[in-house]
Amino acid sequence: MVSNNNNMSVIKGYTIQGILAKGGMATIYIAQQESLKRQVALKVLNPKLDTVILDHFLDESRIIASLKHPNIIPVYDVGRVGIHFYHAMEYLEGGDLEARIAQKQIDVHTALEIILELSDALYLVHSKGIIHGDIKPANIVFRSDDCPVLTDFGISKRVDTTGKEQNAEGILTSPTYASPELIQGHHFDHRTDIYSLGIVLYEMLVGEKPFKGETRLEMIASSIQDPVPTLPENLMPLQPLMDHMLAKDPDERIADGRMISRYIKKYLRDHPRSTQTAQNLADDSGFSSKVVVEYVSESKPGIKETSSKALVPLLIVLFSIAVAAIIWYFII
Ligand SMILES: Nc1ncnc2c1ncn2[C@@H]1O[C@H](COP(=O)(O)OP(=O)(O)O)[C@@H](O)[C@H]1O
Ligand SMILES: [Mg+2]
Repeated sequence: MVSNNNNMSVIKGYTIQGILAKGGMATIYIAQQESLKRQVALKVLNPKLDTVILDHFLDESRIIASLKHPNIIPVYDVGRVGIHFYHAMEYLEGGDLEARIAQKQIDVHTALEIILELSDALYLVHSKGIIHGDIKPANIVFRSDDCPVLTDFGISKRVDTTGKEQNAEGILTSPTYASPELIQGHHFDHRTDIYSLGIVLYEMLVGEKPFKGETRLEMIASSIQDPVPTLPENLMPLQPLMDHMLAKDPDERIADGRMISRYIKKYLRDHPRSTQTAQNLADDSGFSSKVVVEYVSESKPGIKETSSKALVPLLIVLFSIAVAAIIWYFII
């Protein structure tokens, strides 16, 4: 890395324009790819990380490049400049799911549609023998058209199915989304990702995390011991899905992303968007007033239409009475 005239760092071929995020492992820049004159996101690993992680980063970047799916981040380029390992990827303009959850309650249909698309993506990832290992809202980023995209496969390579050493402190950024088997150092497989996706779904549906604690240890204890919380009344049809995504025992968990997709597709068929929104308004005190306000403003034209339609028979009757009265007046 060198500095350009504006004192901004550049990697050969890219001009860095700003920082999108700075994490423990890497910094994400927005940059201009000079050859194609397009904006990209550039993930540059922090130079102080050990060489094993650096090698894994490069390997993993190549694996992601083989994952062609509309909901998986496309990687354009991977490389190393001196001590800096980086990969260039599609720049996603819509921000991440963590920010969206913090901003406002996500409506049930949108939440399910997001999980539907990600389940499909995960199915492909798993079928290639890869475990993402770090499914959480911050790693789900949106395109400008709101299409959710799975990102940050940086940890995937470090997650293999064999060993306890994979669970060392610091590898898991947040225990909130980690499966019970993963945090306990037990053997784990791709179903750990299904669990994490289940936590993301719960958080979107309910607006809070299912397992909580004052401290990290309390939080871990809760996720290992506590049963899956009961969903609000209006979301009860989704309880079986929730229970099976968040089963403590991986053998009782939904086996793969395709089964989640099937369940959600059926739910969406059986509960069209308008019905569900109306139901929320009637039943769910857990939803934010914003959703209610949105519902009310969305439903206004419908209410007006229904009222004026209801007036038509009354007008016909009144008109008929008036005509009859006129005829009666003139004839009799
Ligand atoms: N391709 C991208 N386009 C836009 N923003 C991105 C992109 N990739 C990541 N980000 C943003 O940067 C944050 C950190 O990126 P991530 O790859 O998850 O790095 P880390 O390993 O530090 O968690 C994400 O939570 C997201 O907000
Ligand atoms: Mg991340």
